[in-house]
Amino acid sequence: MKLKSLPLGFVTLASVSAALAANASYSYNVTSCPGYTLQELKQTDTGLTAQLDLAGEACNAFGNDIQNLTIQVTYETQQRLHVKIFDAAQQQYTIPSSVVPVPDPPTTSYTNSSDLVFNYDTSPFAFWITRRSDSPGSMPLFDTRVASLPKTPIAPVNGTDNSTALDTFELVFEDQYLQVASALPQGANIYGLGEVIASSGFRRDVGGSGGPGSIQTLWNRDVADPVDQNMYGSHPIYMEHRYDEGSNTSATHGVLLFSSNGADVLLTTPENSNVSLIEYRLIGGTLDFYFFSGPSPVSVIEQYGETIGYPAWVPAWGFGYHLCKWGYDSIQALKDNVASMRNASVPLETQWNDIDLYNSVRDFTTDPVNYPADQMKAFIDELHANGQHYIPIVDAALATPQNSSDLYAPFIDGFEKDVWIMNPNGTVFVGSAWPGFTAWPDWFAPNTQDWWTQALQNWSDSGIEFDGIWLDMNEPSSFCTGSCGSGSFSQSSLTGAKRGVGNETGLDVTSPPYGIHNGNGALGASTVSTDAVHSGGYSHYDTHNMFGMMEEITTHKALQALRAGKRAFTIARSTFLSAGKWTGHWLGDNYSTWQSMYYSIQGILQFQIYQIPMVGADTCGFNGNTTEELCNRWQMLSAFVPFYRNHNTIGSSPQEPYRWASVANATRIAIAARYALLPYWQTLFANASTQGSPPMRALWYEFPNEPELFGVDRQFLIGSDILVTPVLDEGATTVDGIFPGRGTVAWRDWWTHAVVNASTSGGNTTLQAPLSTINVHIRDGSALLLHAEPGYTINETRSGPYELLVSLDKDGNAFGTAYVDDGESDPPGDSRTLSFATQGGALTISSQGSYGIAQKLESVTILGVQKPSSVSVGGQAVGNFTYLDATQELVVRNVTVDLNEGTKVTWQ
Ligand SMILES: *[C@@H]1O[C@H](CO)[C@@H](O)[C@H](O)[C@H]1NC(C)=O
Ligand SMILES: *[C@@H]1O[C@H](CO)[C@@H](O)[C@H](O)[C@H]1NC(C)=O
Ligand SMILES: *[C@@H]1O[C@H](CO)[C@@H](O)[C@H](O)[C@H]1NC(C)=O
Ligand SMILES: *[C@@H]1O[C@H](CO)[C@@H](O)[C@H](O)[C@H]1NC(C)=O
Ligand SMILES: *[C@@H]1O[C@H](CO)[C@@H](O)[C@H](O)[C@H]1NC(C)=O
Ligand SMILES: *[C@@H]1O[C@H](CO)[C@@H](O)[C@H](O)[C@H]1NC(C)=O
Ligand SMILES: *[C@@H]1O[C@H](CO)[C@@H](O)[C@H](O)[C@H]1NC(C)=O
Ligand SMILES: *[C@@H]1O[C@H](CO)[C@@H](O)[C@H](O)[C@H]1NC(C)=O
Repeated sequence: MKLKSLPLGFVTLASVSAALAANASYSYNVTSCPGYTLQELKQTDTGLTAQLDLAGEACNAFGNDIQNLTIQVTYETQQRLHVKIFDAAQQQYTIPSSVVPVPDPPTTSYTNSSDLVFNYDTSPFAFWITRRSDSPGSMPLFDTRVASLPKTPIAPVNGTDNSTALDTFELVFEDQYLQVASALPQGANIYGLGEVIASSGFRRDVGGSGGPGSIQTLWNRDVADPVDQNMYGSHPIYMEHRYDEGSNTSATHGVLLFSSNGADVLLTTPENSNVSLIEYRLIGGTLDFYFFSGPSPVSVIEQYGETIGYPAWVPAWGFGYHLCKWGYDSIQALKDNVASMRNASVPLETQWNDIDLYNSVRDFTTDPVNYPADQMKAFIDELHANGQHYIPIVDAALATPQNSSDLYAPFIDGFEKDVWIMNPNGTVFVGSAWPGFTAWPDWFAPNTQDWWTQALQNWSDSGIEFDGIWLDMNEPSSFCTGSCGSGSFSQSSLTGAKRGVGNETGLDVTSPPYGIHNGNGALGASTVSTDAVHSGGYSHYDTHNMFGMMEEITTHKALQALRAGKRAFTIARSTFLSAGKWTGHWLGDNYSTWQSMYYSIQGILQFQIYQIPMVGADTCGFNGNTTEELCNRWQMLSAFVPFYRNHNTIGSSPQEPYRWASVANATRIAIAARYALLPYWQTLFANASTQGSPPMRALWYEFPNEPELFGVDRQFLIGSDILVTPVLDEGATTVDGIFPGRGTVAWRDWWTHAVVNASTSGGNTTLQAPLSTINVHIRDGSALLLHAEPGYTINETRSGPYELLVSLDKDGNAFGTAYVDDGESDPPGDSRTLSFATQGGALTISSQGSYGIAQKLESVTILGVQKPSSVSVGGQAVGNFTYLDATQELVVRNVTVDLNEGTKVTWQ
């Protein structure tokens, strides 16, 4: 055994710089911060660059002012403007392009045509962004001028917390504190800036009459779904929607702060102010903003996706029904569960396993007594034979050795390959999690990908033949603070791993002068210490918020290596900008409460903005005991969201749908509708993966000039055509909902096809909603390709015929498209795009692409049509049609249309 040689300098350097930082005399008050002066402006083809010089004496408020900055403004596309302010010396941390690549600079000049315009003052330096098409007096979209903002000092946003006071709006750029603020319209409509469960709902509280405002902290944190606090993921992107009553027009824009540093973002409206404001306070990095011009909300989300990357393709089976519980104490429990679902005729697509599977709660193992590997292999083989799937959990923390005879291969192998996050002194950082003392993979280290892929491969080879992976605890979560297990095993055999301290010196990365409002308190509380070191000289201080996403990248790539050509499916807890390229997300450890069910809607809508559309909540609730009624309602609601899984915690009463006859019934009904709609879901997700369109939408995205919708988050749209109005209150038998369009849209009931008699003034309409039903409505003017025979599995469903449901608008028109492929190839191979256009008594089905669709279109239903006397398909008169007066419904059966050809259906 080779003795570890510790380069001496490492120990001292870190501690000395921390001590220096702590002794530095900061003012802890930005009042006297001088701002910057712009000089040396150079226009370029694609924008401009200039120098920003500190305009006076350094204020050293919460760090050291940086004298010389560079500003780089790039008109990247017609709709995207990039404004980057960074230290001229380029010593500040920035997100590595290897982790989140962003688009290259443009080769075309958009400077004079871009929808957005960059404006600036030189002294004091400030900038503002306007929309080129706005009239000159319009309020800018983003405006950092002190004169545009309320007068300072402003009392603390939180009256008992002085650090939330606003003492100046000058630009502050220090090594450990960066501050910039922008004026917003009073009471602005802001969405995003999570991950959060906001008490205000999907629309954020900006203060003023609506509430106290928001302090959104960006610091990934393992915590059971709190309200108004930082939680699992960080997404510094918001959308703002502006509606002008006078002209009855609106436009939406987006603002991304491209940073992984810890931050507070304040939204507030000071007393007597006629503007609201947003203030960003970062504890490191640079100010790197992207502005998206929209002008529709869907286009803002698409423009953001174009910048950070579109979501991963989801395999068709990923849309099936998933079931899990922590506390399945043996393989027999899994078998019983699978059988009970089958006996109750409730479709089960994927059986999941929580940490019960593990031996000594260690990743990549199986309990030899309760989950013998050979029996697990047989169990999973049988699932596969039945067209079903299996997903186990992987925790981010891996066990360290308990003693010298403890030869846990994933750890030892990783030790030899130098894959662990390190302490500044060159030892492995050892915290604690479920298995006891643990280490965390360093996703920056060069050997980590191969080691991780191999660990997953070995596990699969041992019998755990998973179809996807569930990534938990990856904030990362630790049960202690600091390297609490440092002495727990001998590291004297360390052969590599001498990476030493992070490159940044002279900073206090443990307890920085400005304390962000992390719900856990200290930055390093319940996670890896922020002075821990990653390969390449990155400190955990700067990269904490990316840890989970980097695990997701590594796991996605591992699954691609293990299952070449197949879409990787993972669901993960901690996310960051661009995580959707690699994973889906569940909304974490929620509660079996009516409130948690309501909050799941804002969570799902938020993650559509974040480009992580494959998202859903633990249906029926994770913590606490559900009730039959709650579970009934929630199983129906979640059937209409992208990721559909029921999961609950150990010790809580079981809540699988077969536990109650009524819940089984409700679930069967909801799943049949979900599986019928699968072609629609897959089309929406193809549009997400190719152009960033959000599959789930707030009502106002489709009706942006109806202000009564701006705060609606008790209803939602799937795509543009399906409106869901779930019951969210205990004991209710009716539900109130708004039917967008103010009477211009005929919303037809999904189940009965009857037009809802809705308020025409934008008010609520009360709908009947007995238990085991859910209100779902189809927008007029739509054409939906459906599976005609929803089966027990996604596979069975896909192998059956299709049907088409057309809902005519008042002019007799409708249009829809469907994307069809094999549902599993990655990258997608052959595909086919169908379009369904109805006009003047004729439905034209066109078909383009190379994928061969084996299943025929068996029936066509047209809603809102006058009674015809004759119907023909492909020029041939058909006798086999029915008409229902009550719903103005024409149904043509046994049409046997080859969807690879297209055809025409006419009626008169
Ligand atoms: C900042 O730039 C000016 C030139 O504009 C130079 O004189 C000065 O030394 C620079 N300061 C630092 C700290 O680099
Ligand atoms: C305000 O700050 C106090 C003290 O820091 C804290 O205990 C309290 O939770 C904060 N209130 C809100 C609404 O954030
Ligand atoms: C900062 O200093 C100003 C001026 O002395 C004072 O008005 C303000 O209350 C101080 N802010 C805080 C947070 O103490
Ligand atoms: C908050 O600021 C006020 C006014 O500057 C001061 O009187 C008070 O002591 C401060 N409180 C704390 C906890 O710093
Ligand atoms: C290295 O640092 C860790 C974390 O601070 C500490 O617990 C450990 O004792 C140190 N080990 C050595 C050999 O200095
Ligand atoms: C740290 O410094 C080394 C050596 O100068 C350099 O190669 C590496 O890119 C730096 N890493 C970071 C994160 O700045
Ligand atoms: C949930 O029910 C179980 C019995 O199934 C009981 O042991 C447990 O205490 C209950 N939990 C809560 C939070 O009420
Ligand atoms: C299932 O629920 C529906 C209401 O959606 C109800 O009409 C039907 O009777 C229920 N069936 C059973 C078997 O409970």
